[in-house]
Amino acid sequence: MKKVDKYRSYLSRVIVEETSSKYNDKLVVAIQNGKYVLNSTNANYSFASLHRVFQQALKLVNLREKQDILVLGCGAGSIPSIIYKEFKLNAAIDAVEIDEQVIRLGNKYFGLNHYENLTIIIGNALNYVKTANKKYDLICVDLFKGIQVPDEFLSQQFFQQLNNLLVANGEILFNFVAYNYETKEQVKTIEEGLESVFKTVKVHRFEEVNRIFHIKKKE
Ligand SMILES: C[S@@+](CC[C@H](N)C(=O)[O-])C[C@H]1O[C@@H](n2cnc3c(N)ncnc32)[C@H](O)[C@@H]1O
Repeated sequence: MKKVDKYRSYLSRVIVEETSSKYNDKLVVAIQNGKYVLNSTNANYSFASLHRVFQQALKLVNLREKQDILVLGCGAGSIPSIIYKEFKLNAAIDAVEIDEQVIRLGNKYFGLNHYENLTIIIGNALNYVKTANKKYDLICVDLFKGIQVPDEFLSQQFFQQLNNLLVANGEILFNFVAYNYETKEQVKTIEEGLESVFKTVKVHRFEEVNRIFHIKKKE
């Protein structure tokens, strides 16, 4: 990062690369307050508000007990960076990401390819949960197109597939953005859908619009 861009970024956002892909109309790497961030059309994907949400959300679970972690929606890798650099833990993380461009930007600006225990799977999270034959202690669901969680990730079938991938005392942190009347109303419906599959579901609010469903498996 050039020093001049770093200093300028405290006054206003400095865009360093802008691109698009089949899956994301707009992907912008910018420097904000001295740090690289990845944004989509209308949302932060990694390393700004999303990062702060998961800094808080990951405190809801006992991370030291979580050896095998699945991240659905890798982005530029805020979640692995919090686990490895901030919590200084060495869990094995599998991270699924549909968009190769996101991974390319993650490698170029955010050191995504520098984590020894991180395995990146390029593909659709929907297929991954259907076919994976592994169990996880923790699953972080962070699947967005812009600001929206696609409907297929809010279905009972998807919730059941997540449940199948969890160990007996496994947990899920599921990120959702309630940004208008309809999505705020949706929170209750999603919670009820989750409750019919899982033992415990608690909804936490972070950064005004984010809702994290903290889910525990039925034993
Ligand atoms: C908010 S970002 C994820 C941020 C990430 N969890 C982090 O720690 O930085 C949402 C990501 O979900 C990805 N995504 C959307 N639909 C997907 C799908 N069907 N399968 C896998 N990834 C998907 C998007 O390309 C985007 O990178």
